[in-house]
Amino acid sequence: MADRDVEQLTAADARAEWERLAAKVARANLAYHREDAPEISDAEYDALKQRLALIEARFPEFAVGSPTGQVGAAPSETFAKVTHAVRMLSLENAFADEDVADFAGRVRSFLNLTDDAPLAFTAEPKIDGLSLSLRYEAGQLVQAATRGDGEVGENVTENARTIADIPKALSGAPAVLEVRGEVYMSHADFAALNARQAAAGEKIFANPRNAAAGSLRQLDATITAARPLRFFAYSWGEVSAPLARTQMDAVGRLREMGFQVNPRTQLCRTTAELLTVYGEIEQARASLGYDIDGVVYKVDDLALQARLGFRSTTPRWAIAHKFPAELAWTRLEAIDIQVGRTGALSPVARLTPVTVGGVVVSNATLHNEDYIAGRDAKGNLIRDGKDIRIGDWVQVYRAGDVIPKVADVDLSKRPEGALAYVFPRQCPECGSDAVREEGDAVRRCTGGLICPAQAVEKLKHFVSRGAFDIEGLGARQIEMFFADDQLPVREPAEIFTLAARDATNITKLKNRDGFGEKSVTNLFQAIEDKRKIPLNRLIFALGIRHVGESAANLLARNYGTWAAFESAMTAAHVGEGPEWAALTAIDGVGDVLAASVVNSFHQAAERASIDRLVAELEVQEVAPPRTEGSPVAGKTIVFTGTLEKMTRAEAKARAEALGAKVAGSVSAKTDLLVAGPGAGSKAKEALKLGIETIDEDAWLRLICA
Ligand code: IVH
Repeated sequence: MADRDVEQLTAADARAEWERLAAKVARANLAYHREDAPEISDAEYDALKQRLALIEARFPEFAVGSPTGQVGAAPSETFAKVTHAVRMLSLENAFADEDVADFAGRVRSFLNLTDDAPLAFTAEPKIDGLSLSLRYEAGQLVQAATRGDGEVGENVTENARTIADIPKALSGAPAVLEVRGEVYMSHADFAALNARQAAAGEKIFANPRNAAAGSLRQLDATITAARPLRFFAYSWGEVSAPLARTQMDAVGRLREMGFQVNPRTQLCRTTAELLTVYGEIEQARASLGYDIDGVVYKVDDLALQARLGFRSTTPRWAIAHKFPAELAWTRLEAIDIQVGRTGALSPVARLTPVTVGGVVVSNATLHNEDYIAGRDAKGNLIRDGKDIRIGDWVQVYRAGDVIPKVADVDLSKRPEGALAYVFPRQCPECGSDAVREEGDAVRRCTGGLICPAQAVEKLKHFVSRGAFDIEGLGARQIEMFFADDQLPVREPAEIFTLAARDATNITKLKNRDGFGEKSVTNLFQAIEDKRKIPLNRLIFALGIRHVGESAANLLARNYGTWAAFESAMTAAHVGEGPEWAALTAIDGVGDVLAASVVNSFHQAAERASIDRLVAELEVQEVAPPRTEGSPVAGKTIVFTGTLEKMTRAEAKARAEALGAKVAGSVSAKTDLLVAGPGAGSKAKEALKLGIETIDEDAWLRLICA
């Protein structure tokens, strides 16, 4: 068919044609430059680019990031990292109506509001996409970053520039404005994309969320440009001047600046109203044209949001009310036991594949042995005590991004002679005893590092994203090196001796199948680059039970250097002594976590492996929380008596955010006592010890509240 005159195309037709052509050009670029396998003739390629250029001459807005301006595929290896000026948080989840009432109750009690004091919330759809932070300086889009681990994301600026919903310039915006929202793909665009992918013999995406994520995280922005991504703005990070006094008005300003904001956002004055809006949005879910997985409620008054502040990863002023999970019935074919890095034996259901909410599910977690037997951790019956047996018909569900779970079993379909499942008492991987400790729901392999499954899982964790994150050394490569006799990697330290060992081997890695000169050079360089590692990442990478990313951050910030951390953990004894007291005094470090850390430093084999690793590294210091200008940073404060302007919880959270430590009792280590009316023994003690004592108003003046 002859091309229509560009002047006669409607904007919608032009967009559709542009997307089709841009995808072809992007594909051709990739085949030619990255895969060295041209798929179309040079003449066809030139004709495509000419037509694109004609369309872009009439619709210049399409030109940003277009393949017409590109010479070849970007020589990209990976995305640059971006440290968020203000952390990107996630949301606490609510499932039942009572959880929503509890949330409102917690907000009231934190703020010391009576039940009848007015308190408005916004309610809006929770978009099932991926969050993105857009930074505007002087009204110009200067950076777009993915959420990453919340502190550090990936720089996807060029890709974001290709998304039509994202303005490249704003008028009437503060000098610095970080707009946050969700990148997503509509159902119609998703179906069309998958049809194009199938026709081109390319990867088919499981759902719109994966398609959006895969499209945004393209190293070649021309591919993103050809993918139909959209963006809803719903929040912000750093701003040089407040946007408004309420959430509703702030979102209104974002709309005026040119962002798409969700039209179903509503203001609610009671919990009952929130639940009504939840019901309305759930009703509309199927006809919205894009995936949502719940409704987000936010305190409307921004001054109250600021007072409520954040927990370690979620704000106190918002919650996500999730829709019930999607369900399906299928047959349980087998139960496999997987051994994790901390030795946990996890039962996995192998299922006859079934579609649950658009995704094919063939594995699901069965949690632990009690769950299979129909009991919870406290011995109460679950599923009315029905156990789960191989051959049973089971109900599977998915909630959001999480691993599918087995919820229920249909006893009427149980095959005759099916036997109750006997959970193994030995580790299926190393044969060591698998034991359950008092109070632990999980049976664990006692093999420690001699268990190959634990060792390999620890290594996978070690190279994972929040840990050493070594480019080119993922789970697949770890499994390969772990099983390799010539160039084995059986513990983290051996990753850093790989290159030296390879140099002395007769058969070099670069000559093996699946490797080449370039990939090996890149791998060794990526490993070399990670010899310098921040303390928090190292602590997380050690894979100590109970130590996730936020605990590792806490520990790193408190001890600062590896030397300080290592000597404190070596000297510490569980349950006693000054090192234990100092460790458990860290807000957020409980006895269980502390014992787990101390024990790993006292377990000979594990300790030796840690020492061998650290000998290969240069561990970078981690600074304490940013509290420049804070009058109370590093001080120990005690609150006593009645506080009238804020609750105890709020006072504590504020002091901690300013870098102070809040203690429960007065001692020689106390720097400041904040005493309200009715202060008793603590005030007397402070007087005796000569500790500065101030009232609540002086405290508020001190912290400029
Ligand atoms: S507000 C500080 N509003 O849900 C809280 N988040 O599960 C900022 N999300 O990481 C988030 N729709 O990626 C907010 N209307 C909405 C949202 C939304 C989707 C995502 C966001 C967040 C995740 C948490």
